[in-house]
Amino acid sequence: MEEQTAAQTPFDRFDPTFLSDPYPFYKMLYGQPPMVLELEMRTALLARYADVVAALRDPNTFSSAPIRQISQAHIFGGVPTLILTDPPVHTRLRRLVNQAFAPRRIREMEPRIRQIADELLTKVERAGRFEAMKDIAEPLPTMVIAEVLGIPSSDYQMFKQWSDALLEVSNVPVGSPPPAGFHEALDAERAYFKQRYEYLRRNPGNDLMSMLIQAQEKDALTFDEVAGFFNLLLLAGNETTTNLIGNGLYALMRHPDQLELLRRDPSLMPSAIEEMLRWDCPVQATGRNVVRDCEFAGTPLRAGTVVVVLNGAANRDPAQFPDADRFDIRRAPNDHVAFGEGIHFCLGAALARMEGSIAIGSVLERFPRLRLGEVEPIYKKSFNVRGLVNLPMRID
Ligand code: HEM
Repeated sequence: MEEQTAAQTPFDRFDPTFLSDPYPFYKMLYGQPPMVLELEMRTALLARYADVVAALRDPNTFSSAPIRQISQAHIFGGVPTLILTDPPVHTRLRRLVNQAFAPRRIREMEPRIRQIADELLTKVERAGRFEAMKDIAEPLPTMVIAEVLGIPSSDYQMFKQWSDALLEVSNVPVGSPPPAGFHEALDAERAYFKQRYEYLRRNPGNDLMSMLIQAQEKDALTFDEVAGFFNLLLLAGNETTTNLIGNGLYALMRHPDQLELLRRDPSLMPSAIEEMLRWDCPVQATGRNVVRDCEFAGTPLRAGTVVVVLNGAANRDPAQFPDADRFDIRRAPNDHVAFGEGIHFCLGAALARMEGSIAIGSVLERFPRLRLGEVEPIYKKSFNVRGLVNLPMRID
């Protein structure tokens, strides 16, 4: 079979129209086998739910180990990190951290997360103004991940700055120099890590970093691998959960009937969170690369092809979700792929769900007259991370 190429396909991951609303573009992809494009690199787009799930379940063909030229690899400064490894390295690394994210450990964090949410919202109440991104969606996950990592949550603003600067790298074309501030953020983050590492080695706590340092002392991990986890969790646990809270609140505000339903029956919160994750998912795309020539879902793929797995598209595929564009907080079943699928399934999914429920639940409880403010929220100019720059709300 001839390999398909469609150089003229209107796929431009820097196009502002696409970035503000990628869903119309995804619709064009459902009706056909995966498309191969000659972009900065030969790239296959997977959009259909069945294709996305099949690829994510086949790490032997679709590898997570980065191709050298892909800028995303540099986010981690070249250190080995769980999300960019394949078995058997992935299996070993994942086993070491699974325990720290076991459901029991996550449940233990609930009172502290509620306390953080309450403190943040008390400040809002006093000020009488509510900017949902700045006031809760951004600080809450950063403060929580800081505590998971054994870092004073008061350092969260510094954390947030690094994480934003590092993530910017995925918004520049492959092969171009990293954005301004990238190296500075990486160096600052590294220096901070080293200092915390030395401190926790001498004063171990009940946190994840202390646990990883102990594993390193038993030779189960290298120093670089500990550094890689620190970096990954800082990034993975931050922006993503921020955008679940922001996109989720925004979705509720644009669907007053669903908001009303949730207010009347808060027990719907778990299924509402799943629908927020599906309907406007924070991680729109994940990357893989093809390690052997193969035919996949009717498309021949050559080894070396970059695969853009469109989790955000799969979540709106009408073949999987009836009335897929409808935001329905009671949707069941709802097997979305917002947290991925297969061996790399999000390590922090239970934590993110809990943070999302507590943040959104607390906002609704605290502000019975909550509604959108006058200024229109805008989406960040990022292709793989979907989230809002601002979300002004009225609470009076
Ligand atoms: C709503 C919030 C979140 C979303 C939407 C999300 C999404 C994802 C996705 C799609 C993946 C799979 C990546 C791939 O297949 O290449 C992933 C992996 C991962 N996530 Fe999350 N995530 C969220 C929150 C978190 C949190 C709070 C943490 C940590 C505290 C976390 C830690 C991780 C880690 C460590 C991995 C890599 C797992 C592996 O490679 O085995 N995530 N996440």
